[in-house]
Amino acid sequence: MRIPPAVIEEIKFRNDIESVVSSYVNLKPAGSNLIGLCPFHSEKTPSFTVFKNTQTCYCFGCGSGGDVVTFIMKMENLDYVGALEFLAKRVGLTIPRDQADENNRIRSARILEMNKCAAKFFHAALLSPDGKEALAYLQKRKFSPALIKHFGLGYSPNSFNALMSHLKANGFTEKEMVSGFLCGISKKTGKPFDLFRNRVMIPIIDPKGDVIAFGGRVLDDSLPKYLNSSDTPVFKKSKNLFALNYARKNCADRIILCEGYMDVIALHGAGFSNAVATLGTAITPEQARIMERYTKSVVIAYDSDEAGQRAADKAFKLLGEVGLDVKILKMTGAKDPDEYIKTYGPERFRRLLDDSKTHFDFKLDAILAKYDVSVIPEKLKAINEITDIISHINSAVERDVYIGRISQMLEVSRDSLTYDINKKIKKQNKEQQKNESRKIMLQSAGYGDRINPDYAKNVRASSAEESILSIILTYPELLQKIKKGDYKLLPEDFFTSFGKRVFEKALELTTDGTYFDYGILGSEFTADEMGRITAIVLKRNNLSQNGEKELTDCIAVLKNEKNKQSATLEDIINAKRNEKK
Ligand code: CTP
Ligand code: MN
Repeated sequence: MRIPPAVIEEIKFRNDIESVVSSYVNLKPAGSNLIGLCPFHSEKTPSFTVFKNTQTCYCFGCGSGGDVVTFIMKMENLDYVGALEFLAKRVGLTIPRDQADENNRIRSARILEMNKCAAKFFHAALLSPDGKEALAYLQKRKFSPALIKHFGLGYSPNSFNALMSHLKANGFTEKEMVSGFLCGISKKTGKPFDLFRNRVMIPIIDPKGDVIAFGGRVLDDSLPKYLNSSDTPVFKKSKNLFALNYARKNCADRIILCEGYMDVIALHGAGFSNAVATLGTAITPEQARIMERYTKSVVIAYDSDEAGQRAADKAFKLLGEVGLDVKILKMTGAKDPDEYIKTYGPERFRRLLDDSKTHFDFKLDAILAKYDVSVIPEKLKAINEITDIISHINSAVERDVYIGRISQMLEVSRDSLTYDINKKIKKQNKEQQKNESRKIMLQSAGYGDRINPDYAKNVRASSAEESILSIILTYPELLQKIKKGDYKLLPEDFFTSFGKRVFEKALELTTDGTYFDYGILGSEFTADEMGRITAIVLKRNNLSQNGEKELTDCIAVLKNEKNKQSATLEDIINAKRNEKK
């Protein structure tokens, strides 16, 4: 879908970059700009800069940057149009839609309609004679009829076309069934068949109330245990959470994050209606950000086995990064929350929730279990590991609380603990700064350049090329002149294919007039590429103000380097020829 430039301009105008970035990053004034800790890489000294006068941002640490649209693309993991829609919504604008777009929307609406029809079919099947065995299975798992109804659980009959015939009778096409992941096409016969067969069906419902996907569990120990919808036009498993449609009303204080569907259903049944789960994958940054929108704190209630605890450790990090207060629940005597509640009852589970530990306590327990602190050498090792952990905590107040506790527990003075910890923090900061400046150095030298891999092949040509781009992206009137043929600069003259692409797209997207906002390139380039383009434009700030003269000079350098290059190529060919003779 192509959004008219005037609409993009209006959306950008109403979404001031400072106010948008501020809702993600704590910004502080620095001269006429603003700086803060970069949300796209982890750093301790701020290098993320917002330029108010050009309405752009750039991180001097990791190279992310662009305009407000690029920022949202990267932050919310959206494509260009998605980011514009997000920003439009933020300020109460609606984007006029064209026909192709309208058709897509209708197609999605059809799949949602079909999913609803399928969910009803599965639910009815569960309560029919066909579903006797499945119902008995759910009863065995102590899921009450009310709970089954609440979650709309169902049964997919043991047949290759039961659902298909039902959907067909309701006017849905095979194409729709395949694109909604309800049918597959047999490789052998080319005929469609039901994907979910003989399984307990769990509809996945988004906060709007639409059935967006399904999970299906076998009734016995056969494999695979679960079959889940793949991504479809209406479902991205990395961007949804199971049961958020129910939890959202009861989770302002706390969300319980589980690994599986059945844990969540059992928890809701036991009165914990703030439980959600990921959808058969490890937790993603998008899911962490979704949770952050709904709640202040998360208790991770993953399986008690080693794999579960390792996953909990990872989830802890991700959730902490979006600013959530995170705790980890420790279960003993049961594999997962579902089993725990069945064995010990909801009251004991509530106690576990209230006793759930901060990550610090979680790690502290592990250290104390490892060492015998009544023996001095072991005690010293334990203290060393504990001060390591405390030194990684960002909040000074939080550090102080833990220092107080450890000082009492291990009988060492607060002062000496604080001294050691501060020393470690200093060392880490130094190392991080060293890493960051090393990265910047390597980047500016063109090494490890994934966005423009050609850069390092001829730095003189590449650098002239970047200067040209920075000039034409800063001075729209020069871009116009080039488009008219005034400078005899063609895409073929560019040395790197990235530079060539930027040039071509700029020519294509510039309209008559003196206004050109390079942010519009966001429709053609990824967020990371936009970061690079921003860096190129920023370079301009340090250059002379005589754009025209510099442009002519740089074009000369570029053409000269290109000539040299083709000359050398000819030389090589000639040399080869001579060899043969
Ligand atoms: N999962 C999956 N595919 C599998 C196994 C697991 O998608 N073959 C996902 C499901 O979302 C499941 C979660 O991983 O809910 C956790 O797996 P597991 O702990 O094995 O399942 P439980 O939820 O405990 O299921 P049950 O109690 O029914 O055995
Ligand atoms: Mn289980």
